[in-house]
Amino acid sequence: MIIIIGVVTAQPNAARALCRSLVAWYRRNRRDLPWRRGRDPYRVWVSEIMLQQTTVRAVVPYFERFVRVFPSLQALAAARLDDVLAEWSGLGYYRRARHLHEAARLIVKQHRGRFPRRLEEALALPGIGRYTAGAILSIAYGQPLPVVDGNVARVLSRLCLVRGPRSSAREKKLWSAAADLVAAADVPGDLNQALMELGATVCAPFGPSCPKCPLRRACRARAAGLQERVPSPRRLTRPTVAVRADVAVVTRAGRLLLRRRPDQSLMHGLWEFPTIPSGGVDDGLRVELRESLATIRHSITYRRLELRVRPARLLSEPPRDRYRWVRPGDLRRLPASSLVRKIMTAVGARTDRRTGSWTFDRPLRLC
Ligand code: ADE
Repeated sequence: MIIIIGVVTAQPNAARALCRSLVAWYRRNRRDLPWRRGRDPYRVWVSEIMLQQTTVRAVVPYFERFVRVFPSLQALAAARLDDVLAEWSGLGYYRRARHLHEAARLIVKQHRGRFPRRLEEALALPGIGRYTAGAILSIAYGQPLPVVDGNVARVLSRLCLVRGPRSSAREKKLWSAAADLVAAADVPGDLNQALMELGATVCAPFGPSCPKCPLRRACRARAAGLQERVPSPRRLTRPTVAVRADVAVVTRAGRLLLRRRPDQSLMHGLWEFPTIPSGGVDDGLRVELRESLATIRHSITYRRLELRVRPARLLSEPPRDRYRWVRPGDLRRLPASSLVRKIMTAVGARTDRRTGSWTFDRPLRLC
């Protein structure tokens, strides 16, 4: 058994041997993911931003569509922000898309359209922190920079038996172990992706598949029988907040009334069905709500929404600045959250191919 003392540096040869078995395992077992076919820094960057807070499974179709619509960094920089947000619609955490777009414009201006190679320059871009910079520069340019995300932290906590609750001392040890490993790797990008992949597929939070793990003989947590107890379970994150509201579904001549979320709000700039909180709306929309057709549950970060979907009749014309009558063809081009699609499904909204208008399986026509 290779003994890892503290962090990996104590035995550089052991670190090299670990890297070799880990990378060999990765090359045999890696999932075929679209951003792994090649090392184009632009595609690696887009994938790493999408993968922040989002699962691989959810990201794959978005990634494929995004790089088809914006095939290069130049194409992204030249696009309108609304078109970028429209491609992001449903993926959540829309600030990522705004940052991606802003960073693409900066890269065109400051780095001749090529993702920068220097760590400080990458870190100066919006939306890029230590993890993302390490991932992009190691995968695309082969730089020996460490990465520690949730998956990698779990692998390294177990490998090096880093115990205890989350703390800056623990973070430091994990980054230091990751740095030692990547420094010993022949192909740093593969080593980093091997750590991510191992955490995602083998070294699971509960019930890790130790017999399949290429690091099993070196793993200090396993040697101590602690693989199920290390790392310590996460402290509970922010308590959830229940939000109840009515959603007004208003139609006119085969179009639906949508509203743009105001600046400063969560998900600003996205289009949504008007939501009517119990105290009414303060933006001038006046509607009479009918019986609810469905109740939808939807989570946005820590908010747990329970929304009653209610056909509604306008009592006066909606304010012009934020409201718009939308046809199916318009919706494909507008940034909208996945909640809009859930509501569409709840009312059975379909496109009438002959007229290009909405038709509804549920009775909605009121005005
Ligand atoms: N999560 C973050 N980066 C990833 C990558 N490059 N491959 C798979 N999962 C990831």
